[in-house]
Amino acid sequence: MSETSDTLTVTDNRTGETYELAVEDGAIRAMDLRQIKVTDDDFGLLAYDPAFKNTANVRSEVTYIDGDAGILRYRGYPIEQLAENSNFLEVAYLLIHGELPTADEYDHWTYEITHHTFIHENLKQFMDGFHHDAHPMGMLVSTVGALSTFYPEAKGLDDPETRHMQIVRLIAKFPTLAAFAYRHSIGMRYAYPDNDLSFAGNFLNMMWKTTELKYEPDPILEKAMDRLLILHADHEQNCSTTTMRTIGSSDADPYSAAAGATSALYGPKHGGANEAVLRMLEEIGSVDQVADAVKAAKNGEFRLMGFGHRVYKNYDPRAKVIRELAHDVFEVTGKNPLIDIAVELEKIALEDDYFVDRKLYPNVDFYSGIIYQAMGFPTSMFPVLFAMGRIPGWLAHWQENLLDPEQAIVRPRQLFVGADERDYVPTAQR
Ligand code: SDX
Repeated sequence: MSETSDTLTVTDNRTGETYELAVEDGAIRAMDLRQIKVTDDDFGLLAYDPAFKNTANVRSEVTYIDGDAGILRYRGYPIEQLAENSNFLEVAYLLIHGELPTADEYDHWTYEITHHTFIHENLKQFMDGFHHDAHPMGMLVSTVGALSTFYPEAKGLDDPETRHMQIVRLIAKFPTLAAFAYRHSIGMRYAYPDNDLSFAGNFLNMMWKTTELKYEPDPILEKAMDRLLILHADHEQNCSTTTMRTIGSSDADPYSAAAGATSALYGPKHGGANEAVLRMLEEIGSVDQVADAVKAAKNGEFRLMGFGHRVYKNYDPRAKVIRELAHDVFEVTGKNPLIDIAVELEKIALEDDYFVDRKLYPNVDFYSGIIYQAMGFPTSMFPVLFAMGRIPGWLAHWQENLLDPEQAIVRPRQLFVGADERDYVPTAQR
């Protein structure tokens, strides 16, 4: 019985040469391909992988996803248990520090976050400069990036305390920037943070406070908001997290990296999908129009937003929890009729070969918007809420990347398929 070794034997049929490539953690090192050459001055073999569909570019301990089994764990803890038993600030601590906090650690962490929710008054002038109908994600991208100008010390990336302070500030200030963007868009004065409230409660305070001296969040909506933030807190190497790591790899400050990650999340294929789902459900209009909508999606006339996922080829575990959460929220807000269209859409799609064959299941964005709308958030705020939840995950990966000795500035190679050398042609001869 030949001893099996963790290697790959590769024969290059162009030369007849054979190579042994090490297999570690289910992967080969792409750099090991470079030894495979036809001539000595050959650059060596590259791996071509558009959109990195089959490439791991980091080792990470933060989040584990099993797409086929529909498993999602933050630092080993199943998302279902965290959503049920934890809270967003505790989950943020877990993602960034790797362990659940002790009671003292949690109290100190909560105190720090609570006491950094204010933003510099000058930032309001940025907010005030936007048009009344500016999309809040555009306002968030700009003001998160602007934070870097108020904290120049954030460039001291080698100092753990400096990194910690920027992590605290970003988690603490995202809700303030998000709520201020909303208040600007409806022409209302900014409602300032209230340190007596929880993280989620304070966000609802900054969103909805009007003439009352002290805003009191509805406990069911406060809990639902907190759980929605937990469910969005991280998702390993998604597009926006990869952007955060990539920008961080050039030693840019974390505010600039977070502005880039927020921009990536804005896209309708990513965090912007929750906004697109609502518009899709409103366009479908009623349960009896769902069958025709599914037919149109199968004909490629439009994409069923909130369906499909690069990793999940099973039901997104977050979508399950969010769908159950809807019923708690509707007890307070009244039922959002769009949920009936969504449930019917899911039912028909999951029985249809087109979706089953392509393993297209509802993802995190499919139901979240229905809840956000019921809670009173305008559709344009949905991706902002996604970003607010995701900031601890972005920061956990940003820091992990900085501390990973194997990492360097991200600079992929390319396969050049453009023009060969040619001489300049004067205009008169073109
Ligand atoms: C998020 O990466 C993450 O972890 C992201 C995220 C996170 O937490 O960070 O989970 C959050 O972004 C969730 C995804 C939200 N986006 C949407 O709901 C938009 C709709 N979904 C798709 O655009 C798509 O499914 C993606 C972008 C999510 C995934 O794209 P892939 O993996 O590149 O898949 P694909 O576009 O190559 O599609 C594979 C096939 C294609 O059909 P064929 O060409 O093989 O015939 O599935 C089809 C696609 O046409 N398809 C869909 C579809 N999604 C894919 N057909 C109809 N409706 C859809 N929604």
